[in-house]
Amino acid sequence: MTEAKYALVTGCDHGLGPALADGLEVLGWSVVRCVLDGQEKAAERDGGLPALRMDISRDDSVRSAAAQASALLPRLDLLVNNAGILGDMEKTLGEDIDTQEILRVFNVNALGTLRVTNALTPLLKKSQAPVVLNISSEAGSIGTCWRQGWWGYCMSKAANNMQGAIAHNALMPFGGRVIQMHPGHMATYMRGHLDETARFLPAEAAGRILRTLFSPDLKVAGEHPLFIDLDGKEMAW
Ligand SMILES: NC(=O)c1ccc[n+]([C@@H]2O[C@H](COP(=O)([O-])OP(=O)(O)OC[C@H]3O[C@@H](n4cnc5c(N)ncnc54)[C@H](OP(=O)(O)O)[C@@H]3O)[C@@H](O)[C@H]2O)c1
Repeated sequence: MTEAKYALVTGCDHGLGPALADGLEVLGWSVVRCVLDGQEKAAERDGGLPALRMDISRDDSVRSAAAQASALLPRLDLLVNNAGILGDMEKTLGEDIDTQEILRVFNVNALGTLRVTNALTPLLKKSQAPVVLNISSEAGSIGTCWRQGWWGYCMSKAANNMQGAIAHNALMPFGGRVIQMHPGHMATYMRGHLDETARFLPAEAAGRILRTLFSPDLKVAGEHPLFIDLDGKEMAW
């Protein structure tokens, strides 16, 4: 009999999160789906684990969800930090850039991911080889930056990459690793409407992400975390 595997995925209200959770369950994983808006029942799947409410922008919400996850799971083998928001894409230098809005995006995309990983670290350390998959973005790459705006999103995803690198260092002594991943341009509602210019449906992106994550060809833990795209191609930091 194969050993049970336990995962937790944030941002399972819609978009990539539920697609990844569905894909993991098809592969036999037990998955805790975290949702923002209190629609836990709608997020749950027949025979699956209970879903949890988790607002990653708030310490109390993350702590409470992590305590509930610890009561549900013997350990956490895979944490998928998927929840994220976009923010303004238009304002460029010289315009009325809304720094409060940038702080809100930063609080979710950068600090939110750290909050969740930190709160779940005791449960991750109960796994022999815990993996944290941070859904980052090509927008967080400083080396290939081309935009003249998207301040909150790009800066927060760059910071997400840095917190992932530090978390990788902290988890390595416990057999763990962190992977930063760009999931591709997906048809989700992140822009407030269905992005029909996107290349992939979330289910297709999720399939490719999981194929990459579980591929025997994926580089093993090294001194630094991987920053890769959904097909395993290395991204510039
Ligand atoms: N779509 C793309 O092309 C693309 C490209 C590169 C990277 N990404 C990344 O992929 C990830 C998934 O995005 P997506 O495209 O699936 O977008 P999405 O459809 O908007 O899904 C994002 C999810 O995160 C949740 N969320 C937002 N704020 C949250 C908070 N404070 N606490 C907990 N959950 C929160 C959302 O809940 P509500 O809907 O209820 O607010 C939703 O379930 C994000 O990290 C994003 O940056 C996306």
